[in-house]
Amino acid sequence: MVGARDRHFSTVNEIIEKYDNDPHALISILQAVQEEYRYLPPEILTYIATALGLPPSSVFGVASFYAQFSMEPKGKWVIRICDGTACHVRRSKDILQAVRKKLGLKEGERTTKDMLFSLETVACLGACGLAPVMTVGDEVHGQMTPDKAVTLIDEILRREVEAA
Ligand code: FES
Repeated sequence: MVGARDRHFSTVNEIIEKYDNDPHALISILQAVQEEYRYLPPEILTYIATALGLPPSSVFGVASFYAQFSMEPKGKWVIRICDGTACHVRRSKDILQAVRKKLGLKEGERTTKDMLFSLETVACLGACGLAPVMTVGDEVHGQMTPDKAVTLIDEILRREVEAA
């Protein structure tokens, strides 16, 4: 019988094999694994290191160096609120507060208990002309207001209920 743990590693194996066990493809492999699990579990990083013949410290080093990688579990929907200069002066903090309140996240908490949402702030999303900007997954939403942000979350929640 195949256990969850074996399934876990067979998916990682498929990804590693796709890249011919090439240590030079480490970043692409980590990206593909993170896409699958939404984060990089430590036991998988160790497994990848062994499979590629790399020291685990190198793999953990790469995973923690790049901001795109997370070693903590993230919610299904990752919301990023820009707090770069252009967004900050257009009151991105108000959006952050409204979203945090809507999601019931206390100061310092990043992910909801049901693992549906993670909330992050970023320095600049590169869309300053649309400030204040918020992203939900890959979607960019410009000229946000606290009300629009809450409406977006309500829409996601409605879709989640419909899909359940
Ligand atoms: S400062 Fe927010 S997108 Fe650049």
